[in-house]
Amino acid sequence: METVLSGMRPTGNLHLGNYFGAARSFVKMQDEYNCYFFIADWHSLTTHPKPEDIQKSARTILAEYLACGIDPDKATIYIQSDVPETLELYLYLNMNCYLGELERVTTFKEKARKQPDNVNAGLLTYPTLMAADILQHRALKVPVGKDQEQNMEMARKCARRFNNIYGVDFFPEPQNFSLSATAVKVPGLDGTGKMGKSDGNCIYLYEEDKAITKKVMRAVTDEGPQSPNSEKPEVIQNLFTLMQIASTEDTYKYFDEKWNDCTLRYGDMKKQLAADICATIAPIRERIKEISSDTEKLDRIARLGAEKARESSLRTLQEVRRIIGFRTY
Ligand code: TRP
Repeated sequence: METVLSGMRPTGNLHLGNYFGAARSFVKMQDEYNCYFFIADWHSLTTHPKPEDIQKSARTILAEYLACGIDPDKATIYIQSDVPETLELYLYLNMNCYLGELERVTTFKEKARKQPDNVNAGLLTYPTLMAADILQHRALKVPVGKDQEQNMEMARKCARRFNNIYGVDFFPEPQNFSLSATAVKVPGLDGTGKMGKSDGNCIYLYEEDKAITKKVMRAVTDEGPQSPNSEKPEVIQNLFTLMQIASTEDTYKYFDEKWNDCTLRYGDMKKQLAADICATIAPIRERIKEISSDTEKLDRIARLGAEKARESSLRTLQEVRRIIGFRTY
């Protein structure tokens, strides 16, 4: 079975866009691949977060992914910092990564521009740590967005270089795994593009029905359809796309017809949409509550994930040590 690995940055809570864009695809993948899902808390250190926030944000995101359906019996779900083996590989890989190429990575340049007082070496070697995350499990497929393509290219370079330097065929080159077959792009509520982490624009999985309904009712609209069968402007198309995602086909058709014959009332449509989004989120929200309240169980899951990940990482590392020329015991 092919190995898939995905890293999630622990930045805030999951929203509907994350659910349909990634989490739901992960849930499908765990039946078809040998999956590693991990929370990249080391990567978040580049911005010097507070100690109390580190643990909290990792646990939050862990609970939320579990609530979405990631099953610790099927996939290995772990927290990056629970697997110290990664760092040894990170060190070895760093020996074959060059200053010039790391400085040319766009995400590095962007972050350096954003935090000019904190252009630290961790920021520079972010791609090497990511390569270590991937190569330690010899993962073949990595579901990532467009913004991660350069980092993936670095991971492939790391694999290739290691193989070339030592004349081995040890690390497979990890490929970007397009989610587009199963992922759904969820538009935001403010009419501009996709659902992201700004409050008016996004619906979080932890939100209560009342809060969700309020947000949907406030979604941006326009003055209404002006002529029969007209094209929908982006703000309205977004509402319809949300409906396609959360409602039944019949509901969608019903409101689409109303748009086409100019009898659509946005208030009615939003009420229906809000109810359907609430129905989608409610069971996930209840699971988030249940899972987060049982900290012992959450710890147990994190520990089990770490054990499995360390075993896999150590297996790779022992080979790597031997190939490089270190003794293994
Ligand atoms: N860099 C990724 C992001 O910003 C997170 C990440 C860290 C990752 N390590 C990874 C993703 C390994 C895939 C594989 O989203």
